[in-house]
Amino acid sequence: MMKTIFITGASSGIGRETTKYFANHGWRVIATMRNPQKAGELADLPDVVIMPLDLMNPEQIRETSQKVLAEYDVDVLFNNAGYGMMGPFEKLPESEIRKLFDTDVIGTMLVTQQFIPHFKARKGGVILTTTSLAGIIALPRDGAYGAAKRAQQGMVESLYYELKPFGVKMAAMIPGGTNTNFQTPINILDGYEEPAARQREYLLDGNAAFPGPEEAAVAVWTAVNDGKDQINYPTDSVCQKLYGQYQSMNVEDFKTYFYDRIFGGVAQ
Ligand SMILES: NC(=O)c1ccc[n+]([C@@H]2O[C@H](COP(=O)([O-])OP(=O)(O)OC[C@H]3O[C@@H](n4cnc5c(N)ncnc54)[C@H](OP(=O)(O)O)[C@@H]3O)[C@@H](O)[C@H]2O)c1
Repeated sequence: MMKTIFITGASSGIGRETTKYFANHGWRVIATMRNPQKAGELADLPDVVIMPLDLMNPEQIRETSQKVLAEYDVDVLFNNAGYGMMGPFEKLPESEIRKLFDTDVIGTMLVTQQFIPHFKARKGGVILTTTSLAGIIALPRDGAYGAAKRAQQGMVESLYYELKPFGVKMAAMIPGGTNTNFQTPINILDGYEEPAARQREYLLDGNAAFPGPEEAAVAVWTAVNDGKDQINYPTDSVCQKLYGQYQSMNVEDFKTYFYDRIFGGVAQ
C-alpha cells in the first residue's frame, strides 16, 4: 500500500525538497504550507496533496490535521516549518520572541499533539522534527532561536520515551548551515560583526558555500527507512562532522574551544 508523509513548511527549502524526494519515490505527500499558492510545480507531482497549515493558526492546525487523518493512514509526520532570529539577546523585541516561540515551538507542539493518538492507535509510525545544530550547540546571537530549537529538541527526546512503547520512532533532523530561503527577519549584528563572521566560517567548515537542501531530503528518507533506534540525524556531511566533534568533547572543554574560536582576540 502507498505510504503517506505529512510535511509542514513544504513551500520552500528542506520541506519542498523532501516533498519532491518522497513523491519521486512512490510516496503520497501531504505537503502543507501557510500559503498554498506557493506550491507551484509541487501540485503537478503525482500523489502530492497541497493543504493549508500556518503554525500560528491553532484552529487551522486542528482542521487540516483532522481532515488528513480522516482520509489517509499517515505513516510519517515531518515537522519542518520554522524560521529564525539573530541578535544580541537584550535587543530582541518581546513581541518577536513570542511570535518565534508561537511558531517554532508551540505550533510544532500542536501539530505533534494532533498526530500522537493516531500513531499510538496504529502502533507505529515516525515523527521527525527539523531542529538545528543551533539546538545542540549554543551560538552567540542565538538566545531566542537556539532556545526555540532546544525546546523542539527537548520535545523530541521526551517523546522518544513516551512513544517507543507504541512502536513510534521520534527523531530530530539537524541541519547546520543550509542554502535555502531560511528567514531571519530580525538579524542584528551590533558589535558582533567579527564573531558572526567567524561563526559562519565555523559552520562552513572550509567549504565555499552551505549545502543545499538535497542532502537533508535524503537524510529524512534515511531516518524514515533505516529501522534504526536513533534520535539525532545531522542532515549533511558538514553538519555530521561538526556534530561529531561536539559529541566527542566534554561540554566544558567545547565551550572554551568555541569561545576562543569565535571571540579569540576580539575586543569587546
Ligand atoms: N537553512 C538553515 O541554515 C537551517 C539551519 C538549521 C535549521 N533550519 C531549520 O530548517 C527548517 C526548514 O527551513 P529551511 O532552511 O528549509 O528554510 P525555508 O526555505 O525558509 O523554509 C521554511 C519553511 O517554513 C515555513 N514557515 C515559516 N513560518 C511558518 C508558519 N508560521 N507556518 C507554516 N509554515 C511556516 C516557510 O513558509 P513560507 O514559504 O510561507 O515562508 C517555509 O515553507 C526550519 O525549521 C529551520 O529552522 C534551517
